[in-house]
Amino acid sequence: MIPEEKVREVAERISIVEVVSDYVQLRRAGGNFLGLCPFHAEKTPSFNVNPAREIFHCFGCGAGGNAFSFVMKIEGISFPEAVKLLARKNGIEIEERQLTPSELRSQDEHAQFLRINELTTSYYRSVLLNGQEGEPARQYLSKRSVEPDISDSYRLGFAPDRRDGLVKHLKINGVELESARKLGIVRKSDSGWHDLFRNRLIFPIRDARGQVIAFAGRVLDAALPKYINSPESPLYHKSSVLFGLDMALPSIRTGNSVIIVEGYFDHLALYRAGVQNVVATCGTALTGIHAGLIKRHAEQVYTLFDSDNAGRKATIRSMELFLEQRIPAYVISLPAGDDPDSFLAIHPAEDFASLRDKARPAFEYFLRSLLAETPPDSVDNKVRIIDDIVPRFRKIADSIERDLYEKEICRLLGITVHAFRKRMGGGNLSRQEGSGHQYKTSQPGDTIQDTLLALLLNYPDARAEIIRTGLETIFTDDYLELARLALESLERSNDNQVLSHLAETIENPEQKTLFSRIMVSDGYLADIEWRAVFDQCTRSHEKKQLASIKDIAARLAVLDPNCEEYSQLLRLADSLRTRKSKL
Ligand code: CTP
Ligand code: MN
Repeated sequence: MIPEEKVREVAERISIVEVVSDYVQLRRAGGNFLGLCPFHAEKTPSFNVNPAREIFHCFGCGAGGNAFSFVMKIEGISFPEAVKLLARKNGIEIEERQLTPSELRSQDEHAQFLRINELTTSYYRSVLLNGQEGEPARQYLSKRSVEPDISDSYRLGFAPDRRDGLVKHLKINGVELESARKLGIVRKSDSGWHDLFRNRLIFPIRDARGQVIAFAGRVLDAALPKYINSPESPLYHKSSVLFGLDMALPSIRTGNSVIIVEGYFDHLALYRAGVQNVVATCGTALTGIHAGLIKRHAEQVYTLFDSDNAGRKATIRSMELFLEQRIPAYVISLPAGDDPDSFLAIHPAEDFASLRDKARPAFEYFLRSLLAETPPDSVDNKVRIIDDIVPRFRKIADSIERDLYEKEICRLLGITVHAFRKRMGGGNLSRQEGSGHQYKTSQPGDTIQDTLLALLLNYPDARAEIIRTGLETIFTDDYLELARLALESLERSNDNQVLSHLAETIENPEQKTLFSRIMVSDGYLADIEWRAVFDQCTRSHEKKQLASIKDIAARLAVLDPNCEEYSQLLRLADSLRTRKSKL
């Protein structure tokens, strides 16, 4: 752990403009510095750095925070790592503080888990390499042309056809079986301890640093299930792990792109053929966490899923995730019936390279496959197609891309742009769906609450006035939460450091974006008569809230008077009316 004072010392020594300038070319624009955002592709700069506040914010993608958050994001590292990196660059020495007993315990346990996985990996590996028991697996690998060097890169192993081979090996090495049980690789039943994997080829699953965190075991024949996987454990969360990332990172860095496949053997086949920027999901659909992980390391992504119906669905689902994260995504299609392994078994690697060069943008792939499934030959079908397209189309962040696809959609369906836009305008609810769409959060919010929050940040007197009036009266939702957090910080110390620090500690991504946006754009509030602005804002805010009485009345009319929401709304309407009468 890095002591709090050290973090503060580093924070005080660095300047965000200098830190960012190592990665982004900045030029001065008023009180801010401006540049092209390193976190999304853009041609006109919307990435702002505010030196007074030690804050950055991108109006394009909503990324924001202080110098530490910037380094964490751009280097893909943790907070302590970012602090250390900036300290190193600035010649500050960091000696880590003593851990508390409970921190020590969990660190101990973590180290213990890693040791167990290491012992397990080498055990399975030695069974594979040496002795009679490993023979069937050696034959299997040779049948699939997996040479020793590849077997070694993956640290492949074999779980022998025994009840408790691993259990015994762990015991000999002094491992507490209870700990191994938490990793799911051994189990306890009435008849004693036994292994999870039996008679299976073992793929160790490693994290980005190469540490073994789980295992997958494949049968050597056609038996089912084909794979057994380690369960979720303190080390392993399959929705956030990409198999092979550690092996792929050097090649991802050089080419700035990554290929995602669905299977361990798909990964192996490509890697063996020299295509090394490959990762695989571990028997699960791609998640938003995966997409975020990919975004940290690569600028564009290729999906290479099966050409069957399940693969097509997975491709489209992943397209949505990549649209949300604003990662350009392309689809590589193999000939029907092939997977990477079977394709590369009969084609040279150059053939694969040319398939990759022919990869289509994911959205285009989606349109084509939608039209292939539902031909646009009747009004009914066209409506159905459009309704499938609209929610996904909305996720396209780049305005030029939107424009081009809009034209293409209209051309393919034989409808006017006007009709398409009309459909887009309807059913607006999906715009509010889910959270974490950077594209949504980067839109300007509530301008009145923006200004009020900015007043709170800038003027101690306004702050006092806001507290007197009552935070809940003035702010709602994310604004309310932010106002609370800001006040808490400002109570401790009244300088920009604490606000910059706050920017990095806010966890909710929407609030984070909102906060950094206000912090880089409230320059217009310098040297103003805060009272006049405050009064004007609170008046418009009240009016807006009162307008909602009508909406509440409409909702009450259709609700069951016995339900909870009804009584809540009723109370709300009452309090609004009281306020109105006071105005
Ligand atoms: N998978 C799984 N559990 C199963 C079947 C599949 O977890 N019972 C996951 C594995 O991650 C597997 C991936 O889904 O790698 C793809 O499945 P499949 O194509 O059947 O396996 P491959 O690894 O490609 O193996 P092979 O080439 O030997 O068929
Ligand atoms: Mn496969």
